[in-house]
Amino acid sequence: MAKQFKEYPLDLNRIPAHIAFIMDGNGRWAKKRMMPRTFGHHEGTKTIRTLALEANALGVKAMTVYAFSTENFKRDASEVDYIFKLPKEFFDAYLKELIENNVQIMAIGHLDRAPKETQDLIREGMRQTAHNTGIKLVFAFIYGGRDEIVEAAKKVAVDVKEGKVDVDQIDEDYFASKLMTAGLPEIDLMVRSSGEYRLSNFLLWQLSYSEFIFEDMYWPDFDEKELHKCIYIYQQRQRRFGGVIK
Ligand code: IPE
Ligand code: IPE
Ligand code: MG
Repeated sequence: MAKQFKEYPLDLNRIPAHIAFIMDGNGRWAKKRMMPRTFGHHEGTKTIRTLALEANALGVKAMTVYAFSTENFKRDASEVDYIFKLPKEFFDAYLKELIENNVQIMAIGHLDRAPKETQDLIREGMRQTAHNTGIKLVFAFIYGGRDEIVEAAKKVAVDVKEGKVDVDQIDEDYFASKLMTAGLPEIDLMVRSSGEYRLSNFLLWQLSYSEFIFEDMYWPDFDEKELHKCIYIYQQRQRRFGGVIK
């Protein structure tokens, strides 16, 4: 039996298949406590664990978390270095528990641009969970939406050049099959924490018809109740996909 919060009763038959989070506000959360920004990033990893386990219990099929954008390299090297060490901290603390809960770890983005140790660690986490059949926990790591679309376009161009496809055969499904999210369910719900109302280059193609929720709370303060609240709000929305509800 999945947990319920009485303020946010959920219809367990209409749980979003795929939720994407822009995990924002770690730095401000730490600053408010007179702590270094990195402490906020450390605390933020706990939220990932909590939400992934609860989303899994609710039957969510995939949860994508924006962990590092292609633009985040603009930050101080010390902060970037710290973020690249977080996968080790996260897996040391939680991989065993995630495996016990049947969670599958995945990644989208330019993992190859991370330090070798970080790459190896994430690949090992993916390998150890590859056969799990529970929620897919997808880390968008060194990820950019525009970059992803350009990369997909290049793959399509190679297919055309090699005669694998005719230009006339290229449709949305074909194009989407070249994106880093190929095979994942459509994103039903996108949530951004910290009171910023923008996408910051996240999943530009995939969010076309997703429901958006912007919460003021900083990411380290997100918890199970907040997840239930977001799904509750989602369940009150009427999705039309361009059509008309009669
Ligand atoms: C989100 O928190 C985490 C990353 C972008 C890596 P921030 O680090 O952006 O925190 P704020 O927005 O500065 O508070
Ligand atoms: C978006 O947050 C990227 C991640 C959460 C990883 P940012 O904090 O980098 O976004 P901006 O700079 O406020 O748009
Ligand atoms: Mg931010």
